[in-house]
Amino acid sequence: MTFAGIDLSDNRFWAMPLAGRAAAFAELRAEGRPRFFAEPETPFAEKGPGYYALVRHADVSEASRHPDVFSSGRGATSVADLPVEFNEYFGSMINMDDPRHARLRRIVSRAFSPRLIAQFEQDVRRAATEIVDDLLDTGPCDFVSHVAARLPLKIICDMMGIPAEAYDMVLANTNIILSGADPEFMSADLDETVTQLLTAGAALAELVTTLAAERAQAPGGDLVSALSTANIDGEQLTSAELASFFILLVVAGNETTRNALSHALMLFTEFEEQRALLTGDLEGRLQAAVEEVVRYASPVIFMRRTLTRDFTMNGQDYREGDKTVLYYYSANRDEAAFADPDRFDITRWPNPHVGFGGAGPHYCLGAHLARRELTVMLRELFTRVPGITAGEPDRLLSSFINGIKRLPCEFPG
Ligand code: HEM
Repeated sequence: MTFAGIDLSDNRFWAMPLAGRAAAFAELRAEGRPRFFAEPETPFAEKGPGYYALVRHADVSEASRHPDVFSSGRGATSVADLPVEFNEYFGSMINMDDPRHARLRRIVSRAFSPRLIAQFEQDVRRAATEIVDDLLDTGPCDFVSHVAARLPLKIICDMMGIPAEAYDMVLANTNIILSGADPEFMSADLDETVTQLLTAGAALAELVTTLAAERAQAPGGDLVSALSTANIDGEQLTSAELASFFILLVVAGNETTRNALSHALMLFTEFEEQRALLTGDLEGRLQAAVEEVVRYASPVIFMRRTLTRDFTMNGQDYREGDKTVLYYYSANRDEAAFADPDRFDITRWPNPHVGFGGAGPHYCLGAHLARRELTVMLRELFTRVPGITAGEPDRLLSSFINGIKRLPCEFPG
């Protein structure tokens, strides 16, 4: 694919090496105006007219600040217009606007506040210690399944009150829901992919229905108890709302931090001098290092917004109904916002990345949790296995998630 022929709707673009992808986005940013792309084919919807690719930090940030104009309600996680039921089933509040969005977010926001997340720091540390104990017993192995996937999975399941015997089933289904176009998870037959997605959603919905019935008898301190008993302005969540909310939380909790951890190991393998800096002063440098990993890796590549009215932003006119795709991945490499943006630099501070979304009502609910998980795991790894390195990654084929399916790791015995 030539740069002039960049097509963000073509899966071949997303299969390119990461450096090529970054270079193509640099070309798009240099054009100054958002380029308009035709929509990709999807099994769920009529092909729409297309979308503007917002690739610059200024555009992504400003669109995020105007949620009344740049709406999530017609779908944030997919470029195509999905049927409303499909959107809500898989996206819950991420695909809604206020006031419905705010009503749902209020139910869980306390549980994700820095104060409450700090309270179970000990649990996160204990889990990370166990994972690294097992890694040392196992020896060189697949870093994704042995390390990166385990911590976020255990923590989000513990928060939800999901028992350990259900972990594998939860992970298998969240993997399918965010598998993009990857043939390892998704059939080439577009109709069959719909069935695969709905089956994965139904399995998670059944799990939460069972858990909610148990918690109705014996409520606990977990989020399923909170969700199923939540009473907002006299209203309770319907069982469909509960199922969707649960799917959003387990998918978002699992499929993002895992990839950030895998990218972290790749980055600290490629940029040896940054590893030396980090291990030379772990406590002093971890906080900025975690932000830089999220900026550089951008585990969530985009979210979509749809214009609710005609609007002019940074010199570009948009019409009501226009679709815009906010490329966090590209905004995070914008030379207008970051000096030497392709350099992985753990001393970068301040680091105004939009890896957790732009400032606005949809800013990542799990950002504090993700930061805790990343900090604790990187501390544990680089203290106890300082020589660990990554081999060649097996990447997920997806325009939405910058995913790593498998990543061999090595360390001196
Ligand atoms: C490094 C890890 C993570 C990254 C890069 C990430 C990224 C993002 C981004 C970009 C958004 C913005 C959505 C938008 O503006 O439309 C978002 C929203 C969200 N994230 Fe995360 N996330 C991470 C970890 C987590 C974790 C651990 C959870 C835990 C449950 C979580 C839960 C959510 C939820 C529920 C939303 C929707 C918020 C809303 O619509 O109000 N995320 N995340």
